[in-house]
Amino acid sequence: WTVDASKPVADIQPTMWGIFFEDINFGADGGIYAELVKNRSFEFSSPLTGWTVKQKKFREGTVIVQNRQDTHTANPRYISVHVQQAAKGDLALINDGFRGMGVKKDIRYFFSLLYSQPVAAQIQLHISLIDSTGNVLGDTIFIPTIKDGNWHKQSASFLSHATCPKAKLRIDFMGDGYIRLDMVSLFPSDTWKGRPGGMRADMVQMLADLKPGFIRFPGGCIVEGRDLNNRYQWKKTIGPVEERQLIMNRWNVEFAHRSAPDYFQTFGLGFYEYFQLAEDIGASPLPILNCGMACQFNSAEVADMHQLDSYVQDALDLIEFANGDTTTTWGKVRASMGHSAPFHLKMMGVGNENWGPQYLERLDVFTKAIKNKYPYIKLINSSGTDPEGERFDFLNTALRKRNADLIDEHYYRRPEWFFANTSRYDHYPRNGSKVFAGEYAAHVNNATGPQDKSNWLAALAEAAFMTGMERNADVVQMASYAPLFAHAEGWQWAPDLIWTNNLSIYGTPSYYVQKLFSNNKGSKLLSINSSIGGTQRSDSLYASAVMDTVSGELILKMVNASARRQDCNFIIQGTGKCKDGKLTVLQSGDLKTTNSFEQPFNLLPKESIISLQKKGLQYAAPPYSLSVMRIKYI
Ligand code: AHR
Repeated sequence: WTVDASKPVADIQPTMWGIFFEDINFGADGGIYAELVKNRSFEFSSPLTGWTVKQKKFREGTVIVQNRQDTHTANPRYISVHVQQAAKGDLALINDGFRGMGVKKDIRYFFSLLYSQPVAAQIQLHISLIDSTGNVLGDTIFIPTIKDGNWHKQSASFLSHATCPKAKLRIDFMGDGYIRLDMVSLFPSDTWKGRPGGMRADMVQMLADLKPGFIRFPGGCIVEGRDLNNRYQWKKTIGPVEERQLIMNRWNVEFAHRSAPDYFQTFGLGFYEYFQLAEDIGASPLPILNCGMACQFNSAEVADMHQLDSYVQDALDLIEFANGDTTTTWGKVRASMGHSAPFHLKMMGVGNENWGPQYLERLDVFTKAIKNKYPYIKLINSSGTDPEGERFDFLNTALRKRNADLIDEHYYRRPEWFFANTSRYDHYPRNGSKVFAGEYAAHVNNATGPQDKSNWLAALAEAAFMTGMERNADVVQMASYAPLFAHAEGWQWAPDLIWTNNLSIYGTPSYYVQKLFSNNKGSKLLSINSSIGGTQRSDSLYASAVMDTVSGELILKMVNASARRQDCNFIIQGTGKCKDGKLTVLQSGDLKTTNSFEQPFNLLPKESIISLQKKGLQYAAPPYSLSVMRIKYI
């Protein structure tokens, strides 16, 4: 293999490898958003979903769901609890959590609620975390202090004395009178950066470790919604959490083991938090907005052209929300939430997997308005879901004619497709529109369960394909695997990059492939050619080469997708002296290898030193492996 470092072919964009985030598979609610109480505001379709009323026989007491929709459109429901000379155990409410609540020994938990009670009320609450047999893991007495009939927020905290993957929250009502409750909430204190009401630290850490160039949010199909009423509307996801209007999640499904009829988007993780997350992990924010069309797989509903103004205005206002100074309307809102500095939004997607002439018609209106006001914003356009089909060709041609900044391609295909298409971008036009491979994953046949779909074969196929993307980094400027997270008891789609349950997390082999590419993305693309047949070779070797001009390193990536060891000789041209370097290998002789909750580190990259000979580098690529070599040059 000859690597020419004398004249780099192109810049590698800082955005090259990124993250696709969607609230699917309990990714946000029940996942990264660390709220433990399910249906905290009683707004799920069935108002007591997640809640059980426990009442002792022959004791007085009622729990009533009430509605004030005339005055509180975003969060109309609350509950009224009436008790009479109640002792602990007479009347209690129990919340199940999303699939139980994962609680940890010696971690503090913050309980809070909104309440209103009349002057005459004499009510105390006993708040506890309990295990499946009712043992108390941690508790506190909570006395709502103000009695004036108005709504107030109050909180308390307590330690859990034990770890339990399936705890429940129990609220016992004691005393006399009635109290109204809303936004009943429980958060752990060990959130990411210790932020109150924040995110699960282990999940954010996995994202930070990827060092992603961008984070695309909030999806996915949830951007479009099953219908337009249930589309994602960012303005309803900011401000005080109790004023964020929840909707049923697009992935609220009822079929077999994937059933999630209790899947709602509470928007506790909303657009402000997404921008903050992007900033925390050093990723460029990439919001995708609804283009005036519902998910075309579910519905033919589209906004009429004359109704498009509010959709377009949402896009313009979002740019102001992210970037406007604090004298602007939306910049002021951002500042009031705690971030007066801008979020440096540079790109935005219009539509997700939308297609056909209706999409183009709507896209044109968005493009004109956004580019007029904010010419620096790069726009991502959708090319649908079928990378070889007619729809794709139709859109791709039309979008290229329009000189789209970036065209979003999605492919969920068999591993064979990924191996066979490593040269997909070799033949793309070098000028004009660039590619954003916005969703992709290799889907294997015959997996025994959802987690087994993320095996080494899938990851190796993705790695081979990614060498092809990297070799074409002048064309492919962004790429993200999808979906990102899945909860073992709340998933709707597999394979996924990272699996969680209430307490644990692990990265799949695909996660480590993503990490190796992203952590070794370099800054300049180099040409790499093999003496026997270019870059797409019949011997199942796939390679790419970049240079990191800051650290002064050459970075070679090599996928050996065959069952035998293959000896490779790299001749490096155009650098001064090369020194020894670092080798990182992800390898398993068994293509069915996976990671799991039991063995989260079964397949992990292994590091060693690599030595160079005078002329270059002789390397024996192990069977079924991805190797990354970082070589210092002077
Ligand atoms: O990643 C899962 C889904 O796949 C996304 O929501 C959608 O964009 C695609 O069809």
